[in-house]
Amino acid sequence: MPSARPLAFAPVAASGRPRPFAPSSTSPSASPVDTDRAALLSGLCAPVASIAPKFFYDTLGSALFDAITELDEYYPTRTERAIFSARDAEIAAAFGRTGCTLIDLGAGNGEKAARLFPVLRPREYVAIDISVEYLQRSLEALQRRFPHIAMTGVGADLGRPLELPARLPREGRLFFYPGSSIGNLLPDEARRFLQGLRAHLDDTGALLVGIDLAKDVATLEAAYDDPLGVTAAFNLNVLRHANRIAGTDFALADWRHVAFFDATHGRIEMHLEARRAVCVRWPGGERRFAAGERIHTEHSHKYRIDEFAALLAHAGFAVQRRWTDEREWFAVMLARPAPDS
Ligand code: AVJ
Repeated sequence: MPSARPLAFAPVAASGRPRPFAPSSTSPSASPVDTDRAALLSGLCAPVASIAPKFFYDTLGSALFDAITELDEYYPTRTERAIFSARDAEIAAAFGRTGCTLIDLGAGNGEKAARLFPVLRPREYVAIDISVEYLQRSLEALQRRFPHIAMTGVGADLGRPLELPARLPREGRLFFYPGSSIGNLLPDEARRFLQGLRAHLDDTGALLVGIDLAKDVATLEAAYDDPLGVTAAFNLNVLRHANRIAGTDFALADWRHVAFFDATHGRIEMHLEARRAVCVRWPGGERRFAAGERIHTEHSHKYRIDEFAALLAHAGFAVQRRWTDEREWFAVMLARPAPDS
């Protein structure tokens, strides 16, 4: 499966000739495909079955996510975009240096970072994403639009320890983690992830992170259960991906998209619910599901500003500045390594 291959590549430059291949420090892993298959099957066999959200993002899944961001009900992307476009100069001034290495964590189509290129003026753009083919296509287009910025794509699973190309200068790194993607992690996992980023920074570095904020339940639930069914398709697509990776025989018509807000944990949960009794088979095993039984596919945590600032502090970061929209639905935070961490 190309989607899990750790791989660094340089997009085709404006000249049409590829830039020199830029290998990452990632050693060729034994077999990420086997690891993914094993993770998928052990999640399926657990008493409460689950499939990790990273499996949403095969090529079709990435395109479906892009479609979600166009929905009226899905406010995070456009709210964050409005903050970035109103505040881009302030953000760049707060970061305070040009010529940075901008490291995009889960770059997708790279558009969010590209909108900041004119103010941040990075020397190099490092785009990391699990969806390698999608990333490569996006970066090729981006490199033609911004021929003066060095670009490197890295196919990597952000659930594993982050390995950056060894040649990247340690100075002036800016991690970019927009979209509230960090909401997929449990708070403890988020703290560990942030600690991992912290370890890649010196005191000239920073993190620019987007956080979806707690708000009324109806708004939250509509964003994850749209009437057009795009989010349902996005959720169900994970079963197609599982069939390819693990050789399971999921029939998508057997499953229903379920999304709701869990107030106890402050998060949206997404599940796939069996419409009838189902037996899923794969080479060497099977898992029976009763009618109504669910496979958990995603958590999307919604933080208060002070909660997320506390999480950052536990990971060795201090919030330098933050920006929100008028309704305080979404926050963008610029965090610095804390002096004594
Ligand atoms: C990409 C994780 C930020 O949680 O809102 C969108 C993914 N899932 N609709 C989110 C998602 C369902 C999204 N993140």
